Amino acid sequence: MENREFLNKMQLKKFTCRVSGNPLEEVVNLGRQPLGNGFVEEPFGKNEFFYSMSCGFDSQSGMFQLLQQPEPSTMFHQNYAFLSSTSTSMVRHFSNVATTLCERYLGGNLDPLVVEIGCNDGVFLQNIAHRGYRHIGVEPSENVALIAKAKGLNIYNSFFSHDLACEIKSSLGKCDLIYAANVMCHIPEINDVFRAVESLIADDGVFVFEDPYLGDVIERNSYDQIYDEHVFLFSAISIDYLCKQHGLELINLEKVWTHGGSMRYHIAKEGRHAKSESVTIQVKTELKLGLARVDTYFEFAERVKTSRLELLSLLSCAREQGKVVYAYGATSKSTTIYNYCGIDSSLISRIVDNTPTKIGKYSPGVHIPISDRNDPSLAAPDLYFLAAWNHREEIMSKEKNLLSRGVKFITHVPRVGYIND
Ligand code: SAH
Ligand code: TMP
Repeated sequence: MENREFLNKMQLKKFTCRVSGNPLEEVVNLGRQPLGNGFVEEPFGKNEFFYSMSCGFDSQSGMFQLLQQPEPSTMFHQNYAFLSSTSTSMVRHFSNVATTLCERYLGGNLDPLVVEIGCNDGVFLQNIAHRGYRHIGVEPSENVALIAKAKGLNIYNSFFSHDLACEIKSSLGKCDLIYAANVMCHIPEINDVFRAVESLIADDGVFVFEDPYLGDVIERNSYDQIYDEHVFLFSAISIDYLCKQHGLELINLEKVWTHGGSMRYHIAKEGRHAKSESVTIQVKTELKLGLARVDTYFEFAERVKTSRLELLSLLSCAREQGKVVYAYGATSKSTTIYNYCGIDSSLISRIVDNTPTKIGKYSPGVHIPISDRNDPSLAAPDLYFLAAWNHREEIMSKEKNLLSRGVKFITHVPRVGYIND
């Protein structure tokens, strides 16, 4: 669809909460944005996809969500740019998650079936297969699905849906564990997915998923968690509500450090598992933080505007002083920052990354060139903008050499400033 046609259609549309159906009020507007993972090649086409990115909040369901989202098939396809296994700490993380979940939920089960939604290159599922368990990965992006298949994993190259859940159920029966990481927040038809989960899990089965956490976004001003793929940012309040609409129960919560602050939700059929105190405690914490009040999001929008001005001021100062500034990590999150703040190659001349599918391309919208971090011909800059701030520890520890040579890093989370000054 042409951009103009898409935008016109959207302007006419009344936005409603994808969970409750209530009308949505706009609370945050991040302007004209391209696809977060829409890295482009030269020559730049006129048809790069742009849309107007703003968020709404529904007080009944507690859902913070994009007002409009591009079609899933424009984001998840045969050239999906994000490969889960590029981060060694994420590889370790998923191996640990698999161990914990298998011990906790599959211990006494002789022949368990595990389904993963959005398995990408198999970073989690490979740990299930290694245990010899029956498993299915559901992954719509063909290039990453092929990597998972090449590891010997059983993959449906498809979007997860109620129809697909019925297909899995009729061929393999009900499953004992459904796992999903950093994907539930991508799926606009969330009611359909919860309905599918309810019908696919066995009576004592569990559904565990983890996603970037709304509470962290609000507390740490990490507004770059908002981009096309993240149609929702969840909280305990909103997931508790969603579960209740589908005969499910939120039974446990765990705070997770990944992706700049995430939450892991454990869900079961109503009344089948004991409910941990963590749910009541977290809901109380969120009420105190104001996550159920619309005003909280208007205040957040003001802090986002301030962050933009501060980042622009810091980068302009560096340019006036003749400093060379690169960004570290061609992240989808940083697409939001560059396009919202108006940062192009005059302020950040290059992005470095270690993902083969991104190297040699340009960042979406503002077209900053992306180079291989390990290209020996690339001189170090004076300053790095830490776009992959969620991998701060991994990057800082692997870049000790740069730090000792006086290269500085800046961040915008939780506020704009130097990391090592
Ligand atoms: N679970 C991995 C990948 C996260 S990226 C990790 O945490 O690293 C999100 C993945 O979900 C992508 O590979 C994308 O193709 C896939 N995805 C997007 N929408 C989906 C849907 N409706 N059903 C299943 N997978 C989906
Ligand atoms: P993410 O924030 O969506 O996980 O993306 C992180 C990006 O940063 C991804 O493109 C890989 C890149 N990256 C590096 O280039 N070097 C690193 O050491 C790490 C951890 C990530």
